[in-house]
Amino acid sequence: MDPKYIRNFAIIAHIDHGKSTLSDRLLEMTGSLTAREMQAQVLDAMDLERERGITIKAHSVRMMYTARDGQTYQLNLIDTPGHVDFSYEVSRSLASCEGALLVVDASQGVEAQTLANAYLAINNGLEIIPVINKIDLPSADIPRTKEMIEQAVGLPADHAVPVSAKTGLGVDEILESIVHLLPHPKGHSDAPLQALIFDSWFDAYRGVIVLARIINGRMYKGQKIKLMSNGKVFDIENLGVLTPKPVEIESLSAGEVGFFVATIKNVADTKIGDTVTDANHPATGMLPGFEDIKSMVFAGLYTVDSHEHTLLRDALEKLRLNDSSFFFEPESSAALGFGFRCGFLGLLHMEIIQERLEREFNLDLITTAPGVRYKITMTDGSVLEVDNPSRWPDVTSIEKIEEPIITAMIMTNEEYVGGILKLVEEKRGKQKNFEYITPTRVMLTYELPLNEIVLDFYDRLKSVSRGYASLDYHLTGTWVSPMVKMDILVSGEPVDALSIIVHRDVAYERGKALVHKMKELIPRQMFEVAIQAAIGSKIVARETVTAIRKNVIAKCYGGDISRKRKLLEKQKEGKKRMKRIGKVDIPQEAFLAVLKIG
Ligand code: GTP
Repeated sequence: MDPKYIRNFAIIAHIDHGKSTLSDRLLEMTGSLTAREMQAQVLDAMDLERERGITIKAHSVRMMYTARDGQTYQLNLIDTPGHVDFSYEVSRSLASCEGALLVVDASQGVEAQTLANAYLAINNGLEIIPVINKIDLPSADIPRTKEMIEQAVGLPADHAVPVSAKTGLGVDEILESIVHLLPHPKGHSDAPLQALIFDSWFDAYRGVIVLARIINGRMYKGQKIKLMSNGKVFDIENLGVLTPKPVEIESLSAGEVGFFVATIKNVADTKIGDTVTDANHPATGMLPGFEDIKSMVFAGLYTVDSHEHTLLRDALEKLRLNDSSFFFEPESSAALGFGFRCGFLGLLHMEIIQERLEREFNLDLITTAPGVRYKITMTDGSVLEVDNPSRWPDVTSIEKIEEPIITAMIMTNEEYVGGILKLVEEKRGKQKNFEYITPTRVMLTYELPLNEIVLDFYDRLKSVSRGYASLDYHLTGTWVSPMVKMDILVSGEPVDALSIIVHRDVAYERGKALVHKMKELIPRQMFEVAIQAAIGSKIVARETVTAIRKNVIAKCYGGDISRKRKLLEKQKEGKKRMKRIGKVDIPQEAFLAVLKIG
């Protein structure tokens, strides 16, 4: 199609502001799906996505729209993941577009993710159309939302489109705005092929499916292509577009968006942000912005039953087929046996993987506390990267430790600022900016150690703000910090899987809180159990779990036998997620106690 009649756009929004609902409405209005065909929210394909109501993977849909001027346009809607963990994927999806709809809930106004996403779009040079959604709600305030868009985001809001994605009111105006306000793609079909990969996944029937935006040149069936980041060559077997049903076509040309299936066996070969070119007529360079994805959050995964270890490995391998952004390698722990060290893009990503392992593969897992990767310069000048506390080097050989730092944007109402400031101080934050964007809304910008965020930051923020604070963050650098390894001893024995890395200045307090929490979590045994926190050989805190005095079963003697059975079953159920370490049964929650000490 003539690029003049193509519009590629994304929808960006804060979580729950109505992105999926609006996508569905656009599909319905362009006749891509009839209302009956449309099971609610087709773009969120995976079960988990639907359940959690967030978009994890980016997809794209081609719609045909005949505008009021009588001209038919090809509109490619590129869906973006809705969470900070996936911000690189968001940025590559945005790089595939010329424009974006910035959806803002008229009853909530601009939130942290609205801003973060808007900045990503602006940095990618996109034209932005603000969409003010949920105007059917009695609490909708269109003038105030416009004002916030102008003040906080810095975008003119005079052409903002007020809509209700739910009722469909005003949505036809969005389609007209897309056609008239967004620029058309600028590439050249006769130049060598350069296509940007913005999503890929493994399909059990068709193999690896790649979504790409053709920036220059053409892509066609039978073409020999080369992936420019790794030089690998494949043959295109099929290509097509999602309408959202897949429809095969013969070729894709500059400006268009579609999927292709090639002789690719491994989804890890198709990196998001990579450039696809013609192997016989290669482009001179890659498209800008490519980065290798790096894990940010690390944890150990073990099965409760050590016989299930190979099942866990098989499950991790299967999940990796579909998600090349998480990594795992075997590790072993004196306490937990054989398991895997896993790296994730962020906390949500970690939760998703864990949930899928348990749900789809029916595994009972013990997870160790999540942590980050430190860069350690040794006194001999060598440099180590350590993400596993059990590999922490001896303090005497450490010269300097660098920890990853994020810049966080927090939006909240004035009344919660006090509580939030206290929290970010406690979490070692440094203030970068404090701004009133309306007389009652505040935007805080802080630098914070990622290590503090992966602990309980998000839950604490929610509780101090009663849910009225939104957070977005991205990695911005490192600080040199005096981090120390804190060991936990159970009955005098250090349990390697319980060790954590903490800042020296908060180590004493954290140690105290941690052993206190563990005392609550470790059930009473037949004997007394001492729980201690230690830094090196120095014990910094201690608590004791007292012994059980009475035999619980004894209570039921002479009583009803079914009651006794129930009690035993209940105990067994409780045991499921316990790991026996030495003579002590430690439940899963105790391994994650550090997440609960705030
Ligand atoms: P994520 O995928 O989690 O980022 O959320 P989203 O931005 O896609 O939001 P979604 O479309 O799932 O909408 C969130 C909630 O708002 C749902 O309960 C919708 O039914 C509701 N909603 C969306 N648009 C409207 C609207 O125009 N009016 C009203 N009243 N509710 C809406």
